[in-house]
Amino acid sequence: MAVRMQGKGLAEEIKQAVRQATQELGAHGVSVGLAVLQVGENPASSQYRNAIKRACAKVGIQPYEHVFPPQVSLNELLNAIRALNADERVHGVLVLFPLPQRLDARRVVNAIAPEKDVDGLGAISIGRLAAEESTYQLFGTSQGRAARSFLPCTPFGVIRLLEHYRVPIRGRHVVVVGKSLAVGRPLSLMFLAREATVSVCHRETQNLGAITRQADILCVATGVSHLIRAPMVKPGAVVVDIGISILPDGTVTGDVHYQEVQEVASMLTPVPGGVGPVTIAMLLENTVRSAQSRELLKGV
Ligand SMILES: NC(=O)c1ccc[n+]([C@@H]2O[C@H](COP(=O)([O-])OP(=O)(O)OC[C@H]3O[C@@H](n4cnc5c(N)ncnc54)[C@H](OP(=O)(O)O)[C@@H]3O)[C@@H](O)[C@H]2O)c1
Repeated sequence: MAVRMQGKGLAEEIKQAVRQATQELGAHGVSVGLAVLQVGENPASSQYRNAIKRACAKVGIQPYEHVFPPQVSLNELLNAIRALNADERVHGVLVLFPLPQRLDARRVVNAIAPEKDVDGLGAISIGRLAAEESTYQLFGTSQGRAARSFLPCTPFGVIRLLEHYRVPIRGRHVVVVGKSLAVGRPLSLMFLAREATVSVCHRETQNLGAITRQADILCVATGVSHLIRAPMVKPGAVVVDIGISILPDGTVTGDVHYQEVQEVASMLTPVPGGVGPVTIAMLLENTVRSAQSRELLKGV
């Protein structure tokens, strides 16, 4: 039976460190601020915004919420982001997805100043990850360094969860299913930086099971409920399920068939309760690091 890799313990550890850092910054008169932008009232986005607000309250970060009507123009949104880029109270800017189709999501994300892009999804942040200019964060050597960009929260959370459970990465064959800009793509770059052998699968991949069966570490982020069944997993593999699906009866499931795969894998994340809690903790950590970096640069 697979070890259940839960995210709560790690998330609490990260939040504890963030709380300490916000208190230290507070002693220097610095209040850490995170701006969260939402367009319309998508229920999943509203739920995520509320979860972020609660988490901020627990660690001493001031949230600044900006909810725009669904008909907001691109220029209005870009102006709001530019104002937040210049706002000294704000150390992180997060735009919640999905945005209405008519808004160019990449233009919106790329408008966030890289040093405030705490979700790490702007072109500069992703480019610096690909160019291995920000990967020192993956090796825990960020202390005392001013960050110019941040690693995306969910994939970085996956790496931190594996580290927390002492799963070796170097030299292992990692299979990532999903190549989105938010999860699969940056996650594969992170594994490469950590010297894993990486295969990336997507919708056009032929014979998915033949590839996933080769994985020492299998990470799945597709949003397809129960895509991964037991015969697709190598005995003893470590399996990380990033997917979240809400079934018609309201049940939350992942991309991996937990009941089946737990009989084959050596370690497996549950959904909910695996990667999810770590994602918000990483967002808070990136925000406080942004504040620390700014104060470091100011020489406080
Ligand atoms: N736990 C968390 O904190 C967290 C954070 C973010 C996202 N998520 C969840 O993670 C999942 C993925 O999110 P996302 O933003 O990456 O989604 P996305 O942008 O829709 O990307 C899905 C990826 O999966 C691939 N895919 C879809 N069906 C597939 C199939 N049958 N076989 C192989 N590959 C397939 C797609 O391939 P193509 O590129 O070929 O279309 C695409 O690359 C969602 O369930 C989301 O809710 C969780």
